[in-house]
Amino acid sequence: MSLWQQDFAVFSLHPELKYFDSAATCLMPKVVADAMHYYQCFEHANSHKGLYPLSANATKTVEKSREKVADFIGASIGASNAQEIIFTASTTQAINQVAQGYVKQQINALAIKDRVANVIVSEAEHHANLLPWQILSQETGVELRIAPITLSGTVDLKALSLLLDKNSVLVAINHVSNVLGTVNPIAEICQLAHKKSVPVLVDGAQAVGHIKVEVEKLSCDFYVFSAHKMYGPTGIGILFAKQVYLEQMQPLIVGGGIVTKTSFTEHYLLPAPLRFEAGSHNVAAIVGLSTAIDYLTAIPLAKRQNYLQQLSSYLIKEMSHLSFIKPLLAFEQLTTASIFSFVVDGVHSHDVASCLADDNIAVRAGHHCAQPLHRKLTIATSIRVSLGLYNSHADIDKLIISLRKVQQLLTIT
Ligand code: ALA
Repeated sequence: MSLWQQDFAVFSLHPELKYFDSAATCLMPKVVADAMHYYQCFEHANSHKGLYPLSANATKTVEKSREKVADFIGASIGASNAQEIIFTASTTQAINQVAQGYVKQQINALAIKDRVANVIVSEAEHHANLLPWQILSQETGVELRIAPITLSGTVDLKALSLLLDKNSVLVAINHVSNVLGTVNPIAEICQLAHKKSVPVLVDGAQAVGHIKVEVEKLSCDFYVFSAHKMYGPTGIGILFAKQVYLEQMQPLIVGGGIVTKTSFTEHYLLPAPLRFEAGSHNVAAIVGLSTAIDYLTAIPLAKRQNYLQQLSSYLIKEMSHLSFIKPLLAFEQLTTASIFSFVVDGVHSHDVASCLADDNIAVRAGHHCAQPLHRKLTIATSIRVSLGLYNSHADIDKLIISLRKVQQLLTIT
């Protein structure tokens, strides 16, 4: 059994559950749920609004959590600080904020004749890091350039450097692919882009829960992620943006809590981060995120990473013995991924996932919100196994047994 499985209450109700869908959402440790429950029962108030103790305490909770997030992603060192951490509803909302609030402003500021700007994404993006740029392209005419990936599943740096030019306004790229589990060389990508004075946005949704993220060291300009991919709740995400961009960015959503002065005709915005957090903070979710960070940081990083690395290697080794499994990347290219996607020739992914579900095994089947990547790989859908701290070698053994059953049931030769 995993050292950490007992931290997740769901297994006391569902002892047979083998949960392999952490890339969609991680299960929540009881300590995180308890902290949110305690806050809701005994401390709930609107933050940044009231002068009474309960509200002042909620404000303190939000601001302390902001500092904790900054520490967690290395945004409290060097030139960075916690005021560059914006609470959003999700990774998706954070990317839309940058697309509509920053990049669109930059493009609109160009003279019409100079509107030959381009945004670069990779072939392996989640739709959350593709659709906002497609919409922007439709709205402004900005060219969307697609950087190819190599056979090892990471962005092709040579091709990327050829796509970058003086008209590039942003590179938007995943840190870890939600389908392939591959880790992009973000520091190198930032170096390439910065040589041409192009800022880089990193979709870190699949990275923060598994690998050490240090935005200052990576030197990225924007870094976005969601709490629920790192054992926290849904409904809360983070946008880290360097101060220089925050100063140029307009809030996507406006309303209460973000102004110094308003009349019937005009308003003056507070500085970041509050100007980007209109309405009431989702304080309970922020408490959940903060507790998830405590949970993760209480376990030495090397211990977590080694464990998931061992599990990944075991998963890949066992999968490689199943002749009917075709991984999306060649087995020899698979290294550290806590995410393993594959197809079973001649069988629809949903049929495989349904059979596994009958054995209490949870995987994701479909295109995983990355349809263009699947099309590039000339497949319609795949089955994805993604690992979390609660998984064990025994879970993988059960998965393999179940896949063999699927093979017999669906008479794969
Ligand atoms: N982004 C989530 C996934 O990859 C939903 O499954």
